[in-house]
Amino acid sequence: MVAYDPFTWETAHNPYPIYQQLRDEAPVYYNEKHNFWALSRYEDVVAGHLNVEDFSSAQGVTIEGFEKDAPFIIVKDPPEHTAHRRIVGRVFTPRRIALLEPFIRQTAADLLDRLAGKDRFDVVEEFSFLLPLDVISELIGIPAEVRPRIHELSDRIAARDDSGTMQEDAMIASMDLAVLLTELVHDRRAHPGDDVITMLMNTPVEEEDGSTRMLTDDELAGRFLELSFAGHETVAKLIPNGVVALAWFPDARHELAANPALIPNAVEEMLRWDPPSHYQGRWTTKDVQVRDTVIPANQRVILVTGAAVHDERKYQDPDTFDIHRDVDRHVSFGLGRHLCLGASLARLETRVAFEELLKRFPDFSIDESGVERRVNINVRGLSKLPLVISR
Ligand code: HEM
Repeated sequence: MVAYDPFTWETAHNPYPIYQQLRDEAPVYYNEKHNFWALSRYEDVVAGHLNVEDFSSAQGVTIEGFEKDAPFIIVKDPPEHTAHRRIVGRVFTPRRIALLEPFIRQTAADLLDRLAGKDRFDVVEEFSFLLPLDVISELIGIPAEVRPRIHELSDRIAARDDSGTMQEDAMIASMDLAVLLTELVHDRRAHPGDDVITMLMNTPVEEEDGSTRMLTDDELAGRFLELSFAGHETVAKLIPNGVVALAWFPDARHELAANPALIPNAVEEMLRWDPPSHYQGRWTTKDVQVRDTVIPANQRVILVTGAAVHDERKYQDPDTFDIHRDVDRHVSFGLGRHLCLGASLARLETRVAFEELLKRFPDFSIDESGVERRVNINVRGLSKLPLVISR
Protein backbone atom coordinates (compact mmCIF):
# COMPACT_ATOMS: atom_id res chain seq x y z
CA MET A 1 0.00 0.00 0.00
CA VAL A 2 1.24 3.49 -0.84
CA ALA A 3 1.92 5.77 2.14
CA TYR A 4 2.74 9.29 0.99
CA ASP A 5 3.31 11.93 3.67
CA PRO A 6 4.88 15.15 2.38
CA PHE A 7 5.87 16.21 5.90
CA THR A 8 8.23 13.35 6.75
CA TRP A 9 12.01 13.64 6.59
CA GLU A 10 12.12 10.71 4.22
CA THR A 11 9.92 12.52 1.69
CA ALA A 12 11.76 15.81 2.16
CA HIS A 13 15.06 14.06 1.58
CA ASN A 14 14.04 12.21 -1.59
CA PRO A 15 10.38 12.24 -2.67
CA TYR A 16 10.97 10.65 -6.07
CA PRO A 17 10.61 6.94 -5.09
CA ILE A 18 7.27 7.58 -3.37
CA TYR A 19 6.16 9.73 -6.32
CA GLN A 20 6.80 6.77 -8.62
CA GLN A 21 4.68 4.56 -6.39
CA LEU A 22 1.92 7.15 -6.37
CA ARG A 23 1.90 7.45 -10.17
CA ASP A 24 1.95 3.69 -10.68
CA GLU A 25 -0.22 2.40 -7.86
CA ALA A 26 -2.36 5.26 -6.57
CA PRO A 27 -2.69 8.07 -9.13
CA VAL A 28 -5.70 9.38 -7.22
CA TYR A 29 -4.40 9.04 -3.67
CA TYR A 30 -6.11 9.85 -0.38
CA ASN A 31 -4.13 10.62 2.76
CA GLU A 32 -6.22 10.03 5.85
CA LYS A 33 -3.84 11.52 8.41
CA HIS A 34 -3.69 14.98 6.84
CA ASN A 35 -7.00 14.64 4.96
CA PHE A 36 -5.97 15.45 1.40
CA TRP A 37 -6.02 13.90 -2.08
CA ALA A 38 -2.99 13.85 -4.38
CA LEU A 39 -2.82 13.69 -8.18
CA SER A 40 0.63 12.73 -9.44
CA ARG A 41 0.51 11.75 -13.13
CA TYR A 42 1.53 14.46 -15.58
CA GLU A 43 -1.74 14.24 -17.49
CA ASP A 44 -3.88 14.58 -14.34
CA VAL A 45 -1.78 17.42 -12.90
CA VAL A 46 -2.09 19.40 -16.15
CA ALA A 47 -5.85 18.76 -16.28
CA GLY A 48 -6.17 19.80 -12.61
CA HIS A 49 -4.38 23.10 -13.23
CA LEU A 50 -6.57 23.87 -16.21
CA ASN A 51 -9.84 22.86 -14.51
CA VAL A 52 -10.13 26.01 -12.41
CA GLU A 53 -13.91 25.69 -12.03
CA ASP A 54 -13.80 22.39 -10.11
CA PHE A 55 -10.44 23.02 -8.41
CA SER A 56 -10.50 26.35 -6.59
CA SER A 57 -7.48 28.15 -5.11
CA ALA A 58 -9.52 30.23 -2.69
CA GLN A 59 -9.08 27.82 0.27
CA GLY A 60 -5.28 28.17 0.05
CA VAL A 61 -2.63 26.36 -1.96
CA THR A 62 -0.90 24.43 0.83
CA ILE A 63 -2.25 21.30 2.51
CA GLU A 64 -3.11 23.22 5.67
CA GLY A 65 -4.57 26.19 3.77
CA PHE A 66 -3.34 28.51 6.55
CA GLU A 67 -2.76 31.27 3.98
CA LYS A 68 -6.27 31.19 2.52
CA ASP A 69 -7.20 34.65 3.83
CA ALA A 70 -3.89 36.26 2.88
CA PRO A 71 -4.02 39.10 0.35
CA PHE A 72 -2.24 37.00 -2.33
CA ILE A 73 -3.50 36.52 -5.88
CA ILE A 74 -2.35 32.91 -5.67
CA VAL A 75 -5.26 32.24 -3.23
CA LYS A 76 -7.92 34.11 -5.17
CA ASP A 77 -10.45 32.96 -7.71
CA PRO A 78 -12.08 35.39 -10.16
CA PRO A 79 -13.17 38.14 -10.11
CA GLU A 80 -10.62 39.23 -7.47
CA HIS A 81 -7.87 37.20 -9.10
CA THR A 82 -8.52 38.64 -12.56
CA ALA A 83 -8.38 42.26 -11.40
CA HIS A 84 -5.18 41.89 -9.34
CA ARG A 85 -3.40 39.69 -11.85
CA ARG A 86 -4.14 42.21 -14.59
CA ILE A 87 -2.66 45.05 -12.61
CA VAL A 88 0.46 43.19 -11.43
CA GLY A 89 0.98 41.84 -14.95
CA ARG A 90 0.84 45.38 -16.28
CA VAL A 91 3.79 46.62 -14.26
CA PHE A 92 5.66 43.32 -14.26
CA THR A 93 6.35 43.36 -17.97
CA PRO A 94 8.95 41.31 -19.90
CA ARG A 95 10.63 44.61 -20.82
CA ARG A 96 10.96 45.63 -17.18
CA ILE A 97 12.34 42.20 -16.30
CA ALA A 98 14.84 42.26 -19.20
CA LEU A 99 16.12 45.64 -18.00
CA LEU A 100 17.18 43.97 -14.75
CA GLU A 101 19.78 41.75 -16.44
CA PRO A 102 22.78 44.09 -15.86
CA PHE A 103 21.83 44.44 -12.16
CA ILE A 104 21.45 40.67 -11.79
CA ARG A 105 24.78 40.04 -13.51
CA GLN A 106 26.60 42.62 -11.41
CA THR A 107 25.10 41.29 -8.17
CA ALA A 108 25.98 37.69 -9.09
CA ALA A 109 29.52 38.70 -10.11
CA ASP A 110 30.07 40.66 -6.87
CA LEU A 111 28.88 37.76 -4.72
CA LEU A 112 31.01 35.21 -6.58
CA ASP A 113 34.11 37.41 -6.78
CA ARG A 114 34.12 37.46 -2.99
CA LEU A 115 34.60 33.68 -3.11
CA ALA A 116 37.53 33.77 -5.55
CA GLY A 117 40.49 31.66 -4.37
CA LYS A 118 38.47 29.73 -1.77
CA ASP A 119 38.74 25.93 -1.75
CA ARG A 120 35.20 25.57 -0.51
CA PHE A 121 32.10 27.64 0.12
CA ASP A 122 28.42 27.19 0.85
CA VAL A 123 26.55 27.95 -2.35
CA VAL A 124 23.24 28.51 -0.52
CA GLU A 125 24.47 30.80 2.22
CA GLU A 126 26.94 32.73 0.12
CA PHE A 127 25.18 32.90 -3.22
CA SER A 128 21.73 31.47 -3.92
CA PHE A 129 20.06 33.02 -0.87
CA LEU A 130 21.45 36.44 -1.51
CA LEU A 131 21.06 36.90 -5.25
CA PRO A 132 17.25 36.55 -5.58
CA LEU A 133 16.70 38.54 -2.41
CA ASP A 134 18.62 41.47 -3.86
CA VAL A 135 16.97 41.13 -7.25
CA ILE A 136 13.37 41.01 -6.05
CA SER A 137 14.07 43.77 -3.53
CA GLU A 138 15.52 45.94 -6.27
CA LEU A 139 12.50 45.29 -8.47
CA ILE A 140 9.85 46.04 -5.88
CA GLY A 141 11.81 48.61 -3.90
CA ILE A 142 12.79 47.02 -0.56
CA PRO A 143 15.69 48.99 0.95
CA ALA A 144 18.96 47.08 1.43
CA GLU A 145 18.95 47.41 5.23
CA VAL A 146 15.69 45.46 5.71
CA ARG A 147 16.44 42.68 3.19
CA PRO A 148 18.16 40.29 5.64
CA ARG A 149 15.25 40.66 8.08
CA ILE A 150 12.72 39.85 5.33
CA HIS A 151 14.73 36.85 4.38
CA GLU A 152 14.88 35.56 7.95
CA LEU A 153 11.13 36.01 8.40
CA SER A 154 10.25 34.30 5.06
CA ASP A 155 12.39 31.38 6.03
CA ARG A 156 10.69 31.02 9.42
CA ILE A 157 7.26 31.20 7.78
CA ALA A 158 8.05 28.34 5.38
CA ALA A 159 9.59 26.03 7.99
CA ARG A 160 7.61 23.01 9.28
CA ASP A 161 8.28 20.19 11.66
CA ASP A 162 7.26 16.67 10.70
CA SER A 163 3.74 17.08 12.14
CA GLY A 164 3.08 19.31 9.15
CA THR A 165 1.30 21.95 11.23
CA MET A 166 2.21 25.59 11.28
CA GLN A 167 4.29 26.32 14.37
CA GLU A 168 3.82 29.31 16.64
CA ASP A 169 7.11 30.75 15.45
CA ALA A 170 5.92 30.73 11.82
CA MET A 171 2.78 32.63 12.82
CA ILE A 172 4.77 35.20 14.80
CA ALA A 173 7.13 35.63 11.84
CA SER A 174 4.19 36.07 9.50
CA MET A 175 2.71 38.84 11.66
CA ASP A 176 6.09 40.55 12.03
CA LEU A 177 6.52 40.49 8.27
CA ALA A 178 3.08 42.03 7.70
CA VAL A 179 3.94 44.90 10.10
CA LEU A 180 7.31 45.49 8.47
CA LEU A 181 5.79 45.62 4.97
CA THR A 182 3.00 47.99 6.02
CA GLU A 183 5.69 50.33 7.35
CA LEU A 184 7.42 50.08 3.96
CA VAL A 185 4.20 51.06 2.18
CA HIS A 186 3.82 54.14 4.39
CA ASP A 187 7.39 55.03 3.67
CA ARG A 188 6.90 54.61 -0.08
CA ARG A 189 3.82 56.84 -0.07
CA ALA A 190 5.99 59.53 1.52
CA HIS A 191 8.99 58.85 -0.76
CA PRO A 192 7.95 57.41 -4.16
CA GLY A 193 10.64 55.57 -6.15
CA ASP A 194 11.18 53.94 -9.54
CA ASP A 195 9.96 50.51 -8.48
CA VAL A 196 7.04 48.14 -8.96
CA ILE A 197 5.31 49.07 -5.69
CA THR A 198 5.38 52.79 -6.52
CA MET A 199 3.96 51.94 -9.95
CA LEU A 200 1.22 49.83 -8.39
CA MET A 201 0.46 52.69 -6.03
CA ASN A 202 -0.18 54.92 -9.04
CA THR A 203 -2.09 52.40 -11.17
CA PRO A 204 -5.88 52.27 -10.80
CA VAL A 205 -7.59 48.88 -10.34
CA GLU A 206 -10.61 48.27 -12.49
CA GLU A 207 -13.63 46.89 -10.62
CA GLU A 208 -16.16 44.45 -12.10
CA ASP A 209 -18.68 47.25 -12.71
CA GLY A 210 -16.11 49.20 -14.75
CA SER A 211 -15.35 51.76 -12.02
CA THR A 212 -11.76 52.32 -10.91
CA ARG A 213 -10.05 52.87 -7.59
CA MET A 214 -6.53 53.01 -6.17
CA LEU A 215 -5.00 50.15 -4.14
CA THR A 216 -5.24 50.45 -0.35
CA ASP A 217 -2.22 50.26 1.95
CA ASP A 218 -3.18 46.71 2.93
CA GLU A 219 -3.38 45.62 -0.69
CA LEU A 220 0.00 47.17 -1.44
CA ALA A 221 1.53 45.48 1.61
CA GLY A 222 0.03 42.25 0.27
CA ARG A 223 1.77 42.74 -3.09
CA PHE A 224 5.06 43.44 -1.28
CA LEU A 225 4.65 40.29 0.78
CA GLU A 226 3.57 38.12 -2.12
CA LEU A 227 6.30 39.22 -4.50
CA SER A 228 9.09 39.19 -1.93
CA PHE A 229 8.14 35.73 -0.71
CA ALA A 230 7.40 34.15 -4.11
CA GLY A 231 10.33 35.86 -5.76
CA HIS A 232 12.86 34.84 -3.19
CA GLU A 233 12.33 31.38 -1.73
CA THR A 234 11.83 29.66 -5.06
CA VAL A 235 14.85 30.95 -6.97
CA ALA A 236 16.97 30.54 -3.82
CA LYS A 237 16.07 26.85 -4.02
CA LEU A 238 16.29 26.33 -7.78
CA ILE A 239 19.93 27.42 -7.97
CA PRO A 240 21.23 24.85 -5.44
CA ASN A 241 19.00 22.14 -6.94
CA GLY A 242 20.72 22.94 -10.26
CA VAL A 243 24.16 22.89 -8.64
CA VAL A 244 23.43 19.39 -7.30
CA ALA A 245 22.44 18.30 -10.82
CA LEU A 246 25.73 19.62 -12.22
CA ALA A 247 27.74 17.93 -9.47
CA TRP A 248 26.05 14.57 -10.09
CA PHE A 249 26.22 14.90 -13.87
CA PRO A 250 29.74 16.27 -14.49
CA ASP A 251 29.58 15.77 -18.28
CA ALA A 252 26.68 18.21 -18.41
CA ARG A 253 28.66 20.64 -16.26
CA HIS A 254 31.70 20.48 -18.53
CA GLU A 255 29.54 20.98 -21.59
CA LEU A 256 27.80 24.01 -20.11
CA ALA A 257 31.08 25.56 -18.95
CA ALA A 258 32.46 25.13 -22.48
CA ASN A 259 29.29 26.29 -24.20
CA PRO A 260 27.19 28.71 -22.10
CA ALA A 261 24.67 29.03 -24.96
CA LEU A 262 23.28 25.71 -23.67
CA ILE A 263 22.48 27.19 -20.24
CA PRO A 264 18.90 28.38 -21.03
CA ASN A 265 17.82 24.84 -21.94
CA ALA A 266 19.72 23.47 -18.93
CA VAL A 267 17.66 25.83 -16.73
CA GLU A 268 14.45 24.29 -18.14
CA GLU A 269 15.85 20.88 -17.28
CA MET A 270 16.81 22.02 -13.76
CA LEU A 271 13.21 23.18 -13.29
CA ARG A 272 12.04 19.74 -14.39
CA TRP A 273 14.65 17.57 -12.71
CA ASP A 274 14.23 18.97 -9.17
CA PRO A 275 11.69 21.80 -9.09
CA PRO A 276 11.46 24.15 -6.10
CA SER A 277 7.65 23.97 -5.85
CA HIS A 278 6.44 20.40 -5.46
CA TYR A 279 2.70 20.72 -5.23
CA GLN A 280 -0.09 23.24 -5.53
CA GLY A 281 -3.14 22.85 -3.33
CA ARG A 282 -6.69 23.18 -4.56
CA TRP A 283 -10.21 22.71 -3.14
CA THR A 284 -12.98 20.82 -4.92
CA THR A 285 -16.05 22.96 -5.56
CA LYS A 286 -18.17 19.87 -6.35
CA ASP A 287 -17.76 16.09 -6.70
CA VAL A 288 -15.01 15.60 -9.28
CA GLN A 289 -14.27 12.34 -11.09
CA VAL A 290 -10.59 11.66 -11.76
CA ARG A 291 -9.91 8.30 -13.43
CA ASP A 292 -12.17 5.81 -11.61
CA THR A 293 -12.41 7.75 -8.37
CA VAL A 294 -14.87 10.44 -7.38
CA ILE A 295 -13.28 13.05 -5.14
CA PRO A 296 -16.11 14.54 -3.07
CA ALA A 297 -16.85 18.28 -2.94
CA ASN A 298 -14.98 20.44 -0.40
CA GLN A 299 -11.84 18.35 -0.29
CA ARG A 300 -8.22 19.40 -0.37
CA VAL A 301 -6.49 18.13 -3.51
CA ILE A 302 -2.81 18.65 -4.21
CA LEU A 303 -1.48 18.70 -7.76
CA VAL A 304 1.94 17.13 -7.27
CA THR A 305 3.94 18.87 -9.99
CA GLY A 306 7.16 17.39 -8.52
CA ALA A 307 5.80 13.93 -9.39
CA ALA A 308 4.38 15.01 -12.76
CA VAL A 309 7.75 16.18 -14.07
CA HIS A 310 9.21 12.70 -13.38
CA ASP A 311 6.34 10.84 -15.02
CA GLU A 312 7.80 8.29 -17.42
CA ARG A 313 4.54 8.46 -19.37
CA LYS A 314 5.65 11.97 -20.40
CA TYR A 315 9.48 12.01 -20.12
CA GLN A 316 11.94 9.32 -21.15
CA ASP A 317 14.45 8.43 -18.38
CA PRO A 318 12.95 11.12 -16.15
CA ASP A 319 15.54 10.73 -13.38
CA THR A 320 18.39 11.52 -15.78
CA PHE A 321 19.46 15.15 -15.95
CA ASP A 322 19.73 15.81 -19.68
CA ILE A 323 20.55 19.37 -20.73
CA HIS A 324 19.56 18.58 -24.33
CA ARG A 325 16.10 17.33 -23.42
CA ASP A 326 13.13 19.03 -25.04
CA VAL A 327 11.32 19.72 -21.78
CA ASP A 328 8.19 20.67 -23.70
CA ARG A 329 5.51 21.92 -21.31
CA HIS A 330 6.82 21.34 -17.80
CA VAL A 331 4.48 22.22 -14.97
CA SER A 332 7.10 23.52 -12.56
CA PHE A 333 5.66 27.05 -12.82
CA GLY A 334 2.08 25.79 -12.68
CA LEU A 335 -0.20 26.28 -15.65
CA GLY A 336 -3.24 28.21 -16.79
CA ARG A 337 -4.86 30.86 -14.64
CA HIS A 338 -2.24 30.86 -11.86
CA LEU A 339 0.81 30.32 -14.07
CA CYS A 340 3.76 31.85 -12.24
CA LEU A 341 3.97 35.60 -12.78
CA GLY A 342 7.69 35.56 -12.07
CA ALA A 343 8.64 32.78 -14.50
CA SER A 344 10.61 35.01 -16.86
CA LEU A 345 12.41 36.66 -13.95
CA ALA A 346 13.22 33.27 -12.42
CA ARG A 347 14.58 31.99 -15.74
CA LEU A 348 16.68 35.11 -16.24
CA GLU A 349 18.14 35.01 -12.72
CA THR A 350 18.97 31.33 -12.92
CA ARG A 351 20.56 31.62 -16.36
CA VAL A 352 22.75 34.54 -15.24
CA ALA A 353 23.60 32.78 -11.96
CA PHE A 354 24.93 29.73 -13.81
CA GLU A 355 26.72 31.77 -16.48
CA GLU A 356 28.64 33.61 -13.76
CA LEU A 357 29.13 30.58 -11.52
CA LEU A 358 30.49 28.26 -14.22
CA LYS A 359 32.75 30.99 -15.60
CA ARG A 360 34.53 31.11 -12.25
CA PHE A 361 34.04 27.60 -10.89
CA PRO A 362 33.73 25.06 -13.72
CA ASP A 363 34.80 22.19 -11.47
CA PHE A 364 33.31 21.37 -8.11
CA SER A 365 31.96 18.56 -6.00
CA ILE A 366 29.62 18.48 -3.02
CA ASP A 367 30.73 17.85 0.55
CA GLU A 368 27.77 15.57 1.31
CA SER A 369 28.47 15.64 5.06
CA GLY A 370 27.51 19.32 5.22
CA VAL A 371 24.33 19.23 3.14
CA GLU A 372 21.21 20.36 5.02
CA ARG A 373 17.59 20.30 4.02
CA ARG A 374 14.48 21.40 5.88
CA VAL A 375 10.96 20.06 5.78
CA ASN A 376 9.06 22.90 4.17
CA ILE A 377 5.57 23.65 2.99
CA ASN A 378 5.46 22.91 -0.72
CA VAL A 379 8.92 24.18 -1.59
CA ARG A 380 11.79 21.72 -1.75
CA GLY A 381 15.37 22.83 -1.47
CA LEU A 382 18.54 22.95 0.54
CA SER A 383 19.47 25.24 3.38
CA LYS A 384 23.18 24.30 3.18
CA LEU A 385 25.18 23.05 0.20
CA PRO A 386 28.96 23.10 0.72
CA LEU A 387 30.95 22.93 -2.50
CA VAL A 388 34.55 21.76 -2.77
CA ILE A 389 36.28 23.60 -5.60
CA SER A 390 38.77 21.72 -7.81
CA ARG A 391 41.52 23.66 -9.53
C1 HEM B 1 12.15 29.04 -9.91
C2 HEM B 1 11.39 29.95 -9.41
C3 HEM B 1 9.89 29.87 -9.29
C4 HEM B 1 9.07 28.76 -9.27
C5 HEM B 1 9.46 27.31 -9.40
C6 HEM B 1 7.71 29.26 -9.11
C7 HEM B 1 6.59 28.45 -9.08
C8 HEM B 1 5.30 28.91 -9.09
C9 HEM B 1 4.13 28.07 -9.22
C10 HEM B 1 4.15 26.55 -9.31
C11 HEM B 1 3.05 28.88 -9.23
C12 HEM B 1 1.58 28.44 -9.38
C13 HEM B 1 0.92 28.25 -8.05
C14 HEM B 1 -0.47 27.68 -8.18
O1 HEM B 1 -0.91 27.33 -9.26
O2 HEM B 1 -1.12 27.54 -7.13
C15 HEM B 1 3.51 30.24 -9.07
C16 HEM B 1 2.69 31.34 -9.00
C17 HEM B 1 3.18 32.61 -8.75
N1 HEM B 1 4.50 33.02 -8.73
FE1 HEM B 1 6.11 31.84 -8.98
N2 HEM B 1 7.75 30.63 -9.02
C18 HEM B 1 9.05 31.03 -9.14
C19 HEM B 1 9.51 32.33 -9.10
C20 HEM B 1 8.73 33.43 -8.94
C21 HEM B 1 9.20 34.79 -8.90
C22 HEM B 1 10.65 35.20 -9.11
C23 HEM B 1 8.11 35.58 -8.66
C24 HEM B 1 8.00 37.05 -8.51
C25 HEM B 1 8.85 37.91 -8.80
C26 HEM B 1 6.95 34.72 -8.59
C27 HEM B 1 5.65 35.15 -8.38
C28 HEM B 1 4.53 34.36 -8.47
C29 HEM B 1 3.19 34.86 -8.31
C30 HEM B 1 2.78 36.30 -8.00
C31 HEM B 1 2.33 33.76 -8.49
C32 HEM B 1 0.80 33.75 -8.40
C33 HEM B 1 0.19 33.89 -9.75
C34 HEM B 1 -1.32 33.76 -9.73
O3 HEM B 1 -1.89 33.20 -8.80
O4 HEM B 1 -1.95 34.24 -10.68
N3 HEM B 1 7.35 33.42 -8.75
N4 HEM B 1 4.89 30.24 -9.02
